[in-house]
Amino acid sequence: MKNQMLSSIGLFAASAVAQTVLNSGSGFGTLYYDVSDVNGCQDDFSLQNEGFVECNFFTGLSLDQMNTDYVVAMNYTLLAGDLAKYCGKKVIVTSNGVQSNLPLFIGDGCARCAGGPSTNTAWNPNGAPGLDFSYTVAQELNSNACFAGHFDITWEIVDETLYNFDTNAPGQPTGPVNQRRSVNKRSERGSRRRL
Ligand SMILES: *[C@@H]1O[C@H](CO)[C@@H](O)[C@H](O)[C@H]1NC(C)=O
Repeated sequence: MKNQMLSSIGLFAASAVAQTVLNSGSGFGTLYYDVSDVNGCQDDFSLQNEGFVECNFFTGLSLDQMNTDYVVAMNYTLLAGDLAKYCGKKVIVTSNGVQSNLPLFIGDGCARCAGGPSTNTAWNPNGAPGLDFSYTVAQELNSNACFAGHFDITWEIVDETLYNFDTNAPGQPTGPVNQRRSVNKRSERGSRRRL
């Protein structure tokens, strides 16, 4: 009982700490890949899943290799301008007045999210501010995401690293901040296969 009380106080204190906001905005959420459900949203994401993410562009790392649906893509021009600033950083998304409680992080670039003015409030598939998600995450943020194809969001990218990319090659991505071992194991397996 005493321990429970202490941990809930700890959680409250942690969530009360203000985090530095690196970027924020409002616009539209869309979806473009899914590792856990390759055929989600009546689509076939296998090609998208094989694509290299912008945050690890130089040494190459695919969504499949990352093996998570929590990768979020942002305005690719803004991201390309300062990979180290945004890559791996936590993203907090609000849709329908509900703030996400998922370990979402910036990992990729989105072309649509770079087109037109950042203040645009009209949906345009060729250019409108926002973020691009996995099918699984988009559906969790807004249950109408797949059906509608896009949904209203506001977001904050905060200065908390959830995933370590290799943004300036040569190097190695060390992966999720709390699960480094699984990435190391995967690359060990990869090199064994090559032998
Ligand atoms: C994307 O980022 C670039 C570079 O900062 C900026 O000029 C452009 O307005 C942004 N586009 C959107 C839709 O936010």
